[in-house]
Amino acid sequence: MEAAENPNVGLCCTTTPVWQLPGLTIPNRMLQMNYGCGSTVNPRDLVNNPKILYVGVGGGMELLQFSYFSRQPDGIVGVDVVNEMLEACRQNFVEAERLNPWFRSAFVKLIKGDALQLSLEDNSIDVAAQNCLFNIFKHEDLKKALEEMYRVLKPRGRLVLSDPICEQEMPENLKEDERLRALCLSGSLPLKKYIKMMTDVGFGTIEIRARRPYRILDPLNYATDSVIFIESVEVCAIKDPMPADGPCVFTGKTAIYYGSEESFDDNKGHVLQPNQPLAVCDKTAKALASLNRSDVFISESTYFYDGGGCC
Ligand SMILES: C[S@@+](CC[C@H](N)C(=O)[O-])C[C@H]1O[C@@H](n2cnc3c(N)ncnc32)[C@H](O)[C@@H]1O
Repeated sequence: MEAAENPNVGLCCTTTPVWQLPGLTIPNRMLQMNYGCGSTVNPRDLVNNPKILYVGVGGGMELLQFSYFSRQPDGIVGVDVVNEMLEACRQNFVEAERLNPWFRSAFVKLIKGDALQLSLEDNSIDVAAQNCLFNIFKHEDLKKALEEMYRVLKPRGRLVLSDPICEQEMPENLKEDERLRALCLSGSLPLKKYIKMMTDVGFGTIEIRARRPYRILDPLNYATDSVIFIESVEVCAIKDPMPADGPCVFTGKTAIYYGSEESFDDNKGHVLQPNQPLAVCDKTAKALASLNRSDVFISESTYFYDGGGCC
C-alpha cells in the first residue's frame, strides 16, 4: 500500500532499460513506480490483437507499454489486489493520456482481484503477464498462481513473466521474512525449480529470454552469513501441448554442424546446415550431444533465447 501512495524508486530496481518507442512518453510517476525486475513486453508476442492480462499492475508502466501495441478498448485487463495501487495506476493513466495522444485509459480494464483466484474465464487470454509478483508467493501459492494463469490462457497462449531467481539456498530466516519477500528479495527460487513449477502446471514450451544480475544480500545489511547473489529472468511459458518426451525448455543453446557433408539430419526433425547455429531446446541439445559426434558442437546456455530453432 505504501508503495502505491509514495513511489519508491529503489524498491525493485530494474536493470533493464525502459522501452523507448516512437511516440511513447512514460509519465515520471510511472517510472518512479517501476517495481518490476525486467520486461514482460515483447512485440513478438503481440501480433493479431491479442487479449492481454496483466496481474499486479503497480504504477501501470507495463500496461501503458502493452497498450502501445494493443490500442483497443478493454484489450488489456489489469488485475491488482490493492485498492491504492489500482487508484495510483488510474491516476497515472490520466497523465499518460495527456502525454500520449494515441493512449486511452479505456484500453485497459482495471479490476480488483487476486492472482490466486482470477475472475476470468478459462481459455480466454492470449498473453498473460506478471512482473515481480509471483516471487513473493510461497510454494503452494506460487503453484496456484501459475495454475490460474494456465487456466485462463487459450491453447498456445503465453505467460510472460519477469522475476528474481537465486541459485544459492536462501536462508530460512530470510525466506520467512514477509517484508523481504514483499520487497522481492527473499522469495526467489533457483531457475530450474521455477521452470519445473511451470512445466508441472502443464506449459509445454519454456523460453528463457533474458537473465541478469539483480541484487546482493550481504551480511552487513541482511541476516545472512554469506553474500547472496540474486538474478532476474524473463521467461515466456507457452500453453503448448506437453510433448510425450517432456517439455521443450529453451535456454539459448545452439547446435552447430561442422562436418564435410552438405548437412546433418538427426532424422528427428533437426537438419543442421554447416556452420549455421540452430537454436535447440535443452532436450534436443542433450540428445544431439549423446550421439558423441566429432562434427556437432553444442553451445552453452546463453539464457538469451529469441525464437526459432527446433521443436
Ligand atoms: C512488486 S509490484 C510489481 C508491479 C508491476 N508489475 C511492475 O512491474 O512495476 C507487485 C504488484 O502486485 C500486486 N499484488 C500483490 N499481491 C497480489 C495478489 N495476490 N494478486 C494480485 N496482485 C497482487 C501489488 O499490489 C503490486 O502492484
